Amino acid sequence: MDPRPIGVFDSGVGGLTVLHECLVTMPHEDFVYLGDHARLPYGPRPLGEVREFAREIGSYLETQDVKLIVVACNTATSAALPRLQEELTVPVIGVLTPEAHAAVQATRSRRIGLLATQGTVDSGRYGELVHALDAGVSFHPVACPRLVPLIESDDPYGEATERAVREYAEPLKAAGVDTVILGCTHYPLIRPVFQRVFGRDVTLVFSAEETAREVSETLARKGIENDPAREGVYRFLSTGDPETFREMGRRFLQFPIGKVGHVTLAQLEAAAA
Ligand code: DGL
Repeated sequence: MDPRPIGVFDSGVGGLTVLHECLVTMPHEDFVYLGDHARLPYGPRPLGEVREFAREIGSYLETQDVKLIVVACNTATSAALPRLQEELTVPVIGVLTPEAHAAVQATRSRRIGLLATQGTVDSGRYGELVHALDAGVSFHPVACPRLVPLIESDDPYGEATERAVREYAEPLKAAGVDTVILGCTHYPLIRPVFQRVFGRDVTLVFSAEETAREVSETLARKGIENDPAREGVYRFLSTGDPETFREMGRRFLQFPIGKVGHVTLAQLEAAAA
């Protein structure tokens, strides 16, 4: 039994879709979530810069006495996961491996598509992971730079979002994929738009569900779960404006968001120094 909380982080509120699934799957665990709103978005940034941000946040979360860290951001996972695992003392779980595994299991045609941020696509990590599991899969990545700003806008379900999804889906339909990895933690929020555009015959793989399963199994196998009879608590930290985080976060988390604490970039930098 291990009463310490689980640390979760993302560039902003997208990772709350992962936290949502974790809260549903592991209601007895405590969580501390950090959103790096001051430096959002990560998607268009150079991977080296995102790697540095992730190192700072990982080190900071270790100072909060967490027992495991979930990198609830596909871009940060693509840029930084091996480095975090080398440098931190607690286990670190990213969102790419669980999704790649689920996609390879699901595909029958062995044609898999990926929709993700520019950084995630540029890293090439999904292709490596998919091919490590099945070298014969034909893999089709598409960068979707318009989606995160649209999903964070006041009108995430508007025509512009549907138009963008149709446009990004086109090359995947042309390639005849039967499985699509939604490789960004923001995307579950517009899940129905993807399902309608791709149709029922295409399997959509989301990081939130697959990652929550991975976290739960890891805690069980390592014997570091909290008492299953208790109800856990969760708290939030942001490098940006706490009130903005609260407002937007509700849409992503679909659970109450209490007080949000503020962390300065200087505090993050100091933790990694
Ligand atoms: N949450 C990030 C991801 O999963 C996307 C948002 C951003 O670009 O910062 O890749």
